[in-house]
Amino acid sequence: MARPAYSGHIRGCRAASRPGIEFRVGDACAIPYPDGFFDIARTERVFLYLADRLSVIHEMKRVVKPGGRVCLIDTDLDCTAIYSSKPGLTRKMTSTVAASMPNPNSARELPALARRAGLKDIKTEVFAVESPHEFFVRAMTGSLSKAVESGIVSRSEVDEWLGEQAWLHANGEFFQMWFFVLVCGAV
Ligand SMILES: C[S@@+](CC[C@H](N)C(=O)[O-])C[C@H]1O[C@@H](n2cnc3c(N)ncnc32)[C@H](O)[C@@H]1O
Repeated sequence: MARPAYSGHIRGCRAASRPGIEFRVGDACAIPYPDGFFDIARTERVFLYLADRLSVIHEMKRVVKPGGRVCLIDTDLDCTAIYSSKPGLTRKMTSTVAASMPNPNSARELPALARRAGLKDIKTEVFAVESPHEFFVRAMTGSLSKAVESGIVSRSEVDEWLGEQAWLHANGEFFQMWFFVLVCGAV
């Protein structure tokens, strides 16, 4: 096998201390492995960012053995659920963040993409994940600051919304969930 671009200890990685795992950095459109190399290929929260998702599924199929599986997991940013006394403002903020991504509805689009890419025996699961306030702040503030700079939303709207969420967090009432779709199909 070719020498990996990156292998060994990765700081902060959950799998860093496990033996026998190799990490290699590459573009999903040109996976640096030969045909039929893996039993399974999976992505998690990557399709949100990709320009040509069908090509990437074909590339994942290429590196998986016949009969192996391709699994795709993504979140549906445009239906993020956040507890608030300001539902209209919340919808505006979550839609603004979603619109800053190339594929904000990626999760709901995965089953159709998998079918179009020719995966067989496709299974779909839907689940939700609760988010801590710290992650919520990290996930929202960058996109919202850019939206303020572009004039899409006002600074006072963003401050009002994030302020309420900080207050809810301080009072033990913060609640956000992300909706996920998992699609798995055979090659
Ligand atoms: C939200 S992170 C998810 C990371 C990881 N899958 C996880 O579950 O923690 C999105 C990842 O997609 C990767 N990504 C975006 N476009 C990519 C591409 N064309 N090829 C490979 N990776 C890509 C980014 O580098 C980033 O690590």
